[in-house]
Amino acid sequence: MTTDRLTLRWLIPDDAQRLTELASNWNVARMLARLPYPYPENGAEDWLATHADMRTRGHGSPYAITLAGTLIGVVGVERMDDGRVELGYWLGEPYWGHGYATEAAKAATHIGFADLGVGTLTSGHFEENAASGRVLQKCGFRYTGTSMRPCLARGEDMASVDLAMTRDAWLAGLVASATLQVA
Ligand SMILES: CC(C)(COP(=O)(O)OP(=O)(O)OC[C@H]1O[C@@H](n2cnc3c(N)ncnc32)[C@H](O)[C@@H]1OP(=O)(O)O)[C@@H](O)C(=O)NCCC(=O)NCCS
Repeated sequence: MTTDRLTLRWLIPDDAQRLTELASNWNVARMLARLPYPYPENGAEDWLATHADMRTRGHGSPYAITLAGTLIGVVGVERMDDGRVELGYWLGEPYWGHGYATEAAKAATHIGFADLGVGTLTSGHFEENAASGRVLQKCGFRYTGTSMRPCLARGEDMASVDLAMTRDAWLAGLVASATLQVA
């Protein structure tokens, strides 16, 4: 899938080195639930090796976010064990602050609703991660509550904000943006 500036594509084994380079960053790991820190030597290879099975089981698998052919981050809509379908994303730190996460996350919501036929997408962010909260707000997610979510890198649970977007809200957003373009 392509957006104005980005392409989302499946991750491939050749992405391992670049993923390791971008993921080996405390500022990234400390905001994510499941990214280990320090990032293990074969962490990317091991993680990428799980993706084919995730797709076979219909769980979806993360996408590489690329900018002019360069991998800058990861976004995914993943079916969780409890049945929820959750949007998640991260960018390498040099690429923060340009609207890329919002652009990629919006594209991923389209994949979730249009391609995977999801009824409701969930997401969440640690309370201290205001930038991610803003990304989700701009995508059309709405507050549903608070919870404690695990942070592997910190080795503790963190106070988190939970959000969700329904299929109807997604469709309403599409209609609104189409109406704006026609007007
Ligand atoms: C969070 C993250 C994805 C944001 O990526 P990004 O490309 O910079 O995000 P965008 O530019 O699309 O949007 C960020 C928004 O947050 C705002 N923002 C940035 N820092 C902020 C802060 N400290 N407080 C409040 N808002 C903030 C920006 O101004 C922007 O909003 P605006 O467009 O209304 O001005 C990126 O910083 C990242 O990957 N962080 C580490 C991993 C992570 O947190 N992943 C998400 C886990 S829930």
